[in-house]
Amino acid sequence: MSAQNIVKAFTARRTQYQLSKALPADVTIEQVQSIVQDFVKHVPTSFNSQTIRAVILTGALHESVWQSVVEAIPTEYGKKRPTSAKEEAYGTVVFFDDDEAIKTITDKFPAYFNAVFPPTSNGAAQIGTWTVLSELGLGGHLQHYNGLVEKALAGKVPESWRVQAQLVFGVPVGTPAEKEFIDNEVKVLSE
Ligand SMILES: Cc1cc2nc3c(=O)[nH]c(=O)nc-3n(C[C@H](O)[C@H](O)[C@H](O)COP(=O)(O)O)c2cc1C
Repeated sequence: MSAQNIVKAFTARRTQYQLSKALPADVTIEQVQSIVQDFVKHVPTSFNSQTIRAVILTGALHESVWQSVVEAIPTEYGKKRPTSAKEEAYGTVVFFDDDEAIKTITDKFPAYFNAVFPPTSNGAAQIGTWTVLSELGLGGHLQHYNGLVEKALAGKVPESWRVQAQLVFGVPVGTPAEKEFIDNEVKVLSE
């Protein structure tokens, strides 16, 4: 793939809320798993600490996790997004940071904690995965019901895993909303 095509893939990725509960005909869940695995493995991490974890929820578990989010939200308006994730999306990639893995580094270098563990690596895995799934013909949107999702997954993942984001995916229905851009030129500075 050319550098230009990689940039094209990143600029083509969009938030797609309207989804159907399916994978594209030529895409398997194993392919989705392999893409998520590649990002979890290869995204660079501070001191090569490899702190990113992920699971992919499908079927009844995808639905029951989102149902528990719906039930925990008090307002009808607030329930809308998790309800659509439950009823219209095929699955959810849940991204975590592993506190145990972070601790192995911060125990050695306590002063580094704030400097080296911003959410950079996990975000890179999320957006990389989102971009490549889009190239496969999947639509997705990124959610942050972190505490509620973590509670719903208790006992199913190690206790040290902290939820960072949920990438909800399925076959896109319709087109994403128009996106506006600010004037934000990148300049080359030199002296
Ligand atoms: C770090 C991050 C956090 C986001 N959190 C949410 C969220 O909690 N809920 C949501 O609906 N969209 C969320 N989004 C989606 C953004 O609103 C969306 O990416 C942005 O409006 C640009 O649109 P685009 O994704 O179509 O390019 C998030 C995106 C990023 C990168």
